[in-house]
Amino acid sequence: MNTPCTPVDTERTVLYVSNSPDQELVEFLAASGWQAVHAKSTAAAERLIERGNIKVGLVQLPDDCTSQHLSALASCMRRAETNWVAQIVPGQTENELISRFILDYCFDFVTRPWLNDRLMFALGHAHGLSSLRQTRVTPEPSLGRHGMVGQCEAMQQLYRRIDKCGVTNAPVFVAGESGTGKELTARAIHERSPRAGRAFVAINCAAIPPSLLQAELFGHERGAFTGALQRKIGRIESAHEGTLFLDEIGDMPHECQAVLLRFLQEGTIERLGGNALIHVDVRVISATHVDLDKAVEDGRFRSDLYHRLCVLRLVEPPLRERGGDIKLLANYALSMYRQDGARKLRGLSSDAIVAMSNYQWPGNVRELINCVRRAVVMSEGRFITASDLGLPEADNGPAVTLAEIRSKAEKDAIEHALQRHGYRLSEAAAELGISRATLYRLMHANRLHQDPAGGRASNPNGGTDAGDEGQRHAPSLV
Ligand SMILES: Nc1ncnc2c1ncn2[C@@H]1O[C@H](COP(=O)(O)OP(=O)(O)O)[C@@H](O)[C@H]1O
Ligand SMILES: [Mg+2]
Repeated sequence: MNTPCTPVDTERTVLYVSNSPDQELVEFLAASGWQAVHAKSTAAAERLIERGNIKVGLVQLPDDCTSQHLSALASCMRRAETNWVAQIVPGQTENELISRFILDYCFDFVTRPWLNDRLMFALGHAHGLSSLRQTRVTPEPSLGRHGMVGQCEAMQQLYRRIDKCGVTNAPVFVAGESGTGKELTARAIHERSPRAGRAFVAINCAAIPPSLLQAELFGHERGAFTGALQRKIGRIESAHEGTLFLDEIGDMPHECQAVLLRFLQEGTIERLGGNALIHVDVRVISATHVDLDKAVEDGRFRSDLYHRLCVLRLVEPPLRERGGDIKLLANYALSMYRQDGARKLRGLSSDAIVAMSNYQWPGNVRELINCVRRAVVMSEGRFITASDLGLPEADNGPAVTLAEIRSKAEKDAIEHALQRHGYRLSEAAAELGISRATLYRLMHANRLHQDPAGGRASNPNGGTDAGDEGQRHAPSLV
């Protein structure tokens, strides 16, 4: 038997976790072509799992198994790659905690004294399924070189634009709904610019009380106002030679807009209560979720400041328009928070993916990450399901078949043609490219009639056609 210090060959290897190993079992495993690697403690088991790609584990529950034993085991069995088979003594499944533990963390269980075939079947099956999962597993989405997850066309275009913005010094304005990643974009631009090694200073204009915003941006001298006990360097000055990110600029009060404009025009600031002009070299990136054009129109935002800030403009796509990226981002969120769950989570179920794709995500990526994080904690099974996500049902209305759509389109087209031609059937038929007889038949099939109250009821069997004689009757749809 291997000990924890020998390298692990992961093919047909079973990690045997037991504080009192059963020598007979180990010999049987070896004789059956399994290499058993023994771990006496959960810490040792964790180290082995870290080192090798262990597909199968056999965990022998102690006869006097307590909840402490179980939670220590659970922490190392939570990893998704290993399929565990529990070895228990008769009667242990009657213990609520143990049966819950087996359901949550184990692929199967065998009862001692084990039956050779049963044990081989369970281990072989666990190994097979684990290999299957590994070959199908999509690589865990990682942050790309722009620090973001996303491969859809809109994101690819955003990446290209970020690269372009990186090489110039011009101000960039980032538009987009809340939670779409405006701040990430600002950071990515900074990282790709020659200022990358310098400070990136972000300030959220909406989060600071208007009366304090100016002091926060420009700094103040000692005694500038009551409570200004010492000199404070403002955010603009601390971004010298780096990038200043003005977040939620749409919420900036008017007085502050005027001072900011002066700084953008002249490249100098004055600390509050001071009179020295200080030259500051910063690259400005701004963002807001409000419609800045509308704010300018309404007089809430200065148009001269708007033009200074929006030299280059990027727009973050809303999450609902990112297609398959929703799944990538959900898996990314799962990989970040997987450890928060009480249970070993294998992933997202397909109904969860469907529910996420149908949801509109008003809070965008931020909402999706929080939603997955909450589901990790709340989920009861091995996969996060649609109900764990707690998303409202998509309101798509009743399902409509293609035949229903066609027939509605046909009825609408006939009705409109009839209306346009004042119910002169020959003209309506000519426009529709059908014979008068066919039009009559279709009107009948679609239960489209001329209004009998108009004087002349339509007669699908031929005869007088009121419309054709130039009389107009309001149609009545039956
Ligand atoms: N494409 C993305 N990939 C990974 N995480 C993202 C992505 N977009 C946004 N996020 C995450 O979502 C949250 C909101 O992003 P943020 O940049 O603050 O959005 P905004 O400024 O538009 O409100 C942050 O936690 C951010 O890391
Ligand atoms: Mg933001």
